Order: sequence, then C-alpha cells, then structure tokens
Amino acid sequence: MPAFKRRLNAGLRRRTDEGNLVSPTRCRIAILGFGTVGSAVARRLTGPHVPLGLELTHIFDRRAHEKSEALAASRITWTTSIDEVLASDADVVVETVGGVEPAADWIRAALAAGKSVVTANKQVVARRGAALLTLAERQGRQLRFEAAVGGAMPIVRAVGEGLAGDRITRIVAILNGTTNAVLSRMEATGCSLDDAVVDARARGWAEADPRVDLDGVDAAAKLSILCALAFGLRVDPDAIPTRTAASVTPADFDHARRAGGTIRQIAHAEYDRTASTLTVWVAPTVVARGSIFSRTAGPQNAAIISGAHCGEITIAGAGAGGDATAVAILSDIVAIARDRAAIVPAPVLTSHFRLQTSDFVLAEAV
Ligand SMILES: NC(=O)c1ccc[n+]([C@@H]2O[C@H](COP(=O)([O-])OP(=O)(O)OC[C@H]3O[C@@H](n4cnc5c(N)ncnc54)[C@H](OP(=O)(O)O)[C@@H]3O)[C@@H](O)[C@H]2O)c1
Repeated sequence: MPAFKRRLNAGLRRRTDEGNLVSPTRCRIAILGFGTVGSAVARRLTGPHVPLGLELTHIFDRRAHEKSEALAASRITWTTSIDEVLASDADVVVETVGGVEPAADWIRAALAAGKSVVTANKQVVARRGAALLTLAERQGRQLRFEAAVGGAMPIVRAVGEGLAGDRITRIVAILNGTTNAVLSRMEATGCSLDDAVVDARARGWAEADPRVDLDGVDAAAKLSILCALAFGLRVDPDAIPTRTAASVTPADFDHARRAGGTIRQIAHAEYDRTASTLTVWVAPTVVARGSIFSRTAGPQNAAIISGAHCGEITIAGAGAGGDATAVAILSDIVAIARDRAAIVPAPVLTSHFRLQTSDFVLAEAV
C-alpha cells in the first residue's frame, strides 16, 4: 500500500476508534444520581469508544457505597457528599437525579462553583431553566439539556440551534414514551389501559405510578421547554392545559379507527406572533392513519416542527430509556468539551399571550 494511503487510513482509524472528532481537551465529569440514566452514562464513559479526553471522576448518589460495585472501573470517587463533588476538579456535572429540588439547587451550586452542567431533568429546566441559564452565562459556563426532551431524539438542538435561522410557528409532537407505549399497545392488541400499563411496566417503559406521564404533566414540562426555544416564550408548565390519557378506552380506539385514525398523546404548541397568541395543550388526540404519529409505536417520540421558511421538519426516534438518553447526555458533554462558551437564555416575553384550549380531544385528526 502506498505510504500516503497508509497514513490516511491510520488517521481515519484513530478518529473512529476514539468515537468522535472531539478536541483532545481533558474533561472531567461528575455524575449526580446513579439510576437508570446516570448508570447508563457511567457505563458509556467507562466503556470502549469513549470520546477522547472524557474522564468520569466522581459519582454522587445517596446509596453510593451500595452501588459502587455495579461499575468495574477503578479511579472513580463514589460519594454521598455533594460538597465533595462541588469542591472537586470536575469540569462538567451531569445531573440525573430528577425532581425539582434539591436537583435545581445542586445545578445552581455546580455553576456557581465554575462547572458546566448537563441535565436530563425536564422539570428543573421547565421551572428553573431561565434563572439557571442566566447564572451559567454569568459564570461563563454551559448548561445543556438535550436529554430533557425527546430522549435520543435531538429536538432541543433542532429547535434551539438547527432551526434558529427560521421563524418557528408550530410544534406538534409525541413527547412521552410511556404514554405512547401504552396507547400503541392498546391499539395493537385491543387491551384495556390497565393491561397496557402492566405491559409497559414489565418492559421497563413505565414507572410504578405512570400518572405523571398519562396525565400529560411530563409532556407539558417538555413542551414548555420547546416554547422557550422555539418562540422565546417562558410558559409555566402548570399553565399548559392537559387532558389525561388515563381514561382512554378500547371503544375510543374503535371510534378513532372508524374516523380513519388512531389515538396518541399529542403535545401541541402554535404561536401567532401577530396576535401574540400561544395555543398550547397536551391531550390524547385522534391522529390520521399513515401519519408519522400513527406510525410512532412503543416508547418512541416524534415531532413535526413548522417554520415560516423551511416548511415542515420531521424528527423521530427513541424517546426514553437509559441507553438512548445517555446518547443525548454524551452529546452535550462532547459539545462542552469542544467549546466551553456560554449559551444565551431565551428572552422573557414582554407582550401578553393567551393560553387557548381548543376542542382537541378525540375530535380532530392531526
Ligand atoms: N429514565 C428515562 O428513560 C429518562 C429519559 C429522559 C430523561 N430522564 C430524566 O432523567 C432523570 C433521572 O431519571 P432516571 O430514570 O434515571 O431516575 P432514577 O432511576 O430514579 O435515578 C435517580 C437516581 O438518583 C438517586 N437519588 C434520588 N434522590 C437522591 C438524593 N436526594 N440524593 C442522592 N441521590 C439521589 C436515586 O437513588 P435511589 O436508587 O436510592 O432511588 C437514583 O439512583 C430524571 O430527571 C428523568 O426525568 C429519564
């Protein structure tokens, strides 16, 4: 083989072995919460093909000492002390604890301690995101949250960065994998909602109590984040009208089938800038047979984003699960390792806006 070819091949091999074209800056990482998502991130960071320079140094968990045997890697400090993480030389703190407090407080403290933060926590981002982003900017650090919406489906980047050159007018999406798994199971088998929940739980797609998912609370938090990114609006997730999917019956599916569709939990946000009106809701909705939403089954997510200039952009993929969510977190860490500049928070809406509940439930095909 000629010398120039050998050199080229060696260069290519080096890059693919290392997983990515990441700048070789050393980036030390601390994980808060060694549960479904945190442990998946830890496994990726201690497994093969770790992007160059990324190094897991700390794992904080309330049961750190019980869990430390779950990871073969040595040279990781397991701790039950958040102060130990804050005082450490970690560059990036990954928050995978969940809940609003104390997670938001720990993110604040990590930013104040000069660390960048990656979080999977939609409740924190939806409720405390603006203040935390302002703090991150003031500190010259990043706060990234791709994993908070859509699991591995990179909708945060798509809306916040990829389509920043357009004027987004509408987002219609399936944003909750658990509810989608339940409804698509009911559609496929004709079973009751309770049986579909039992099945989703057995497959690890639903919590013991999936009400937050079925009632639309989880999707509303995600939709609130998308409203900030897409429209520059700060929308209280509790103000988003929701209708529960917990009361959907097999008879509703028969009705939807006769109407030419099926039922999915849809999150809908549409902003009329001229009228300063935001129409936003989460509800079980009849979607047309053959549409991207009717074809979204199991814990998948999907979204159609409409822009004034680009038309409709469709995105779909794994919406939940440790491994899928870890992809989004790793991507955020890689972005920080490549460029540690701060990101700018969404401005607060100064003109008034109105939340509007349209007659959406089981009435209208999307
Ligand atoms: N699971 C998914 O598919 C998914 C997808 C996207 C985003 N997310 C988000 O990711 C975050 C984590 O979700 P998860 O499913 O990984 O939750 P999880 O399995 O319950 O993991 C949370 C971990 O944090 C630990 N923890 C909880 N409270 C703590 C405290 N006060 N101090 C120290 N450790 C504490 C838990 O310890 P114990 O073991 O003792 O409970 C557990 O190890 C949430 O914000 C969730 O919304 C999850």
